[in-house]
Amino acid sequence: MAVNSLDPRRIPRHVAIIMDGNGRWAKAQGENRLFGHVSGVDSVRETLKCARELGVEFLTMYAFSTENWGRPQSEIDGLMQLLVASIHSEIPALCEKKVRLLTIGDIQQLPKDCVESLQEAALKTSKNYEITLVLALNYSSRDEIIRTCNRLAEKVKKGMLIPGEIRQHDIESELDTAHIPDPELLIRTSGEHRISNFLLWQLAYAEMHFTKVFWPDFRGEHFIAAIADYQSRERRFGKTSEQLI
Ligand code: IPE
Ligand code: IPE
Ligand code: MG
Repeated sequence: MAVNSLDPRRIPRHVAIIMDGNGRWAKAQGENRLFGHVSGVDSVRETLKCARELGVEFLTMYAFSTENWGRPQSEIDGLMQLLVASIHSEIPALCEKKVRLLTIGDIQQLPKDCVESLQEAALKTSKNYEITLVLALNYSSRDEIIRTCNRLAEKVKKGMLIPGEIRQHDIESELDTAHIPDPELLIRTSGEHRISNFLLWQLAYAEMHFTKVFWPDFRGEHFIAAIADYQSRERRFGKTSEQLI
């Protein structure tokens, strides 16, 4: 799939990715799961480069779910160390390529060194404007919605919101993704066809692209294929085809 087969006027503003299959990819080559996660960092770098070159404005990547705390402690520790090491080594490249880094999820519950490196990277890249990389860490959609409901309840208590008058905008502005447009496209790798508690509110009208490719094998060509698939869809938003003309 070549870049010039894409319609430059219909590049999605926001693409979200469930990066899956690191463990199976590693196992298939007789390696341990962590080797798969380490190799997956190259895929993140390549995908970010491709997205930026295509003019995608937001790229959200599901890196660690609230459910992933249930994994063996050694894998969790390895993932957290990988996160800190990758953030540190990538900060200069993020600055050079004008990439802004944001996070969604309850990051305060991550180990202290992770929180600190994420805050440092967010601060150092805050003025960058080419593309925003959103890392979903200690994220799940239900957890995000619960935290949002608690904030809305506080607003009601303070008289800033009136029960019966809560609108879509009031909810969106309290989600972790406030100020981030909804993704038009969701990609999931590794052949699984599920959402796994990711962006349930925000994906309401996203197009879904599933590929069998394991995340460590995912490259720009696969990202371009996903965008081509997206561009082949007719997005009707509840209307009829005839109404769209
Ligand atoms: C995705 O790959 C990375 C994370 C969830 C952190 P997996 O680790 O889920 O790999 P599989 O799905 O077990 O192959
Ligand atoms: C989803 O992958 C979470 C991330 C990619 C971080 P999982 O591998 O944890 O999801 P399930 O358990 O297969 O649904
Ligand atoms: Mg998985």
